[in-house]
Amino acid sequence: MSSKVIIGAQWGDEGKAKIIDILSEEAEVVVRSQGGNNAGHTVVANNETYKFHLIPSGILYEGTECIVGNGVVIDPDGILGEIDGITAKGISTSKLRISKRAHVVMPYHKVLDGIKEQYRGEGDIGTTKKGIGPCYMDKAERSGIRICDLYNVDVFKARVRDNVEIKNKIIKYVYEQDVVLDAEQIIEDYLVFAERLKPYVTDTTVEVYEALRADKKVLFEGAQGTLLDIDLGTYPYVTSSHPVTGGVCVGAGVGPTEIDECIGVMKGYITRVGKGPFPTELFDTTGDKIREVGHEFGTTTGRPRRCGWFDAVIGKFAVRTSGLTSIALNKIDVLSNIETVKICTVYKKGEELIHEFPASLEELAECEPVYEELPGWGPIDHIKKYSDLPENAKAYVTRCEELCGAKITMVGVGPDRAQNIYVD
Ligand code: IMP
Repeated sequence: MSSKVIIGAQWGDEGKAKIIDILSEEAEVVVRSQGGNNAGHTVVANNETYKFHLIPSGILYEGTECIVGNGVVIDPDGILGEIDGITAKGISTSKLRISKRAHVVMPYHKVLDGIKEQYRGEGDIGTTKKGIGPCYMDKAERSGIRICDLYNVDVFKARVRDNVEIKNKIIKYVYEQDVVLDAEQIIEDYLVFAERLKPYVTDTTVEVYEALRADKKVLFEGAQGTLLDIDLGTYPYVTSSHPVTGGVCVGAGVGPTEIDECIGVMKGYITRVGKGPFPTELFDTTGDKIREVGHEFGTTTGRPRRCGWFDAVIGKFAVRTSGLTSIALNKIDVLSNIETVKICTVYKKGEELIHEFPASLEELAECEPVYEELPGWGPIDHIKKYSDLPENAKAYVTRCEELCGAKITMVGVGPDRAQNIYVD
């Protein structure tokens, strides 16, 4: 390992946490580059359960430097809560670094996220209401507040006051809601957060660059997934950042030439939370079974996830748009004991075959999946070697690999990190 990127290659929740946890063991530096505490992953280690939203789970390994890069949006209260939670469990956060350039999620972002969703009514996106979209909106609009601004008190106070004045007007006159934000209270609270965050704050682009120059093993951990990318995903049912490999370069402040490998994580089936068309979605008992067996309920919101068959049109799209060098195919044990499993190979719109993932959601909504059926397999969660997998399970993996166009190098047969099999 020199530098590896791990991204979600579907709609998020592909089980990246397990792969990240496995690879973090050998990593010397782990970097987050986009998203915020809308992401969530759970790691069980030393009989303790840890829930991470902003801090890379690599923090569990002593000596691993964990970086929250400039492309991440940081809720100070959220990250301090995570710091307190892991510190209480005896884990040191002395190797945590937070980018000076990262944007700060403010209370008005969270309020506006909720109000905007309510205003959308039936057309809501199903956001996590963590203020992510409104924070990235301010970033793009150039009215955002960055971590470095917290340490220039006059600048910070002026920005908060300006923003609160405008947001209060938007809330009152556009959305006709009663909520009134108090700039002075926000300033007071955030200056306390700023003091506590200070030891962690630095120019993380330097730290990452120096680690790469020193040939350290650097792991860039993605959040969300390809189809939630604001440019390449199922817009507008997307998050407001770039979960694809390209997002890593901007969000961590590294050049593309620094990246050696890109691993896309997929599940042997597919899920999504929130709204939007989903061609292979299952509405029958097989879908319910996958949800129950696969524990497909959101880490951040607890919402049941929509479940469907593996979609190779999406797999191929992820390989292409992120330059995936390999795939980790997770949770194929969840498909055990299903007599016939299905893979979507292409879409059909009327009489027309659609080979490439459509840009238009209206077109996607008209797409019917064309399935290839394969015979299923029995329980596999006890299997430790790829060659010991049932032939049907191996045939399934091989077919997913052929259709997506990148090598599957890891297969997940259970939630435990030991239940990750390297393909030989
Ligand atoms: P937001 O990121 O909270 O603005 O939500 C936008 C969309 O992205 C919604 O459909 C969310 O459910 C989805 N989303 C955001 N983060 C995650 C994630 O970590 N996993 C899966 N879906 C996510």
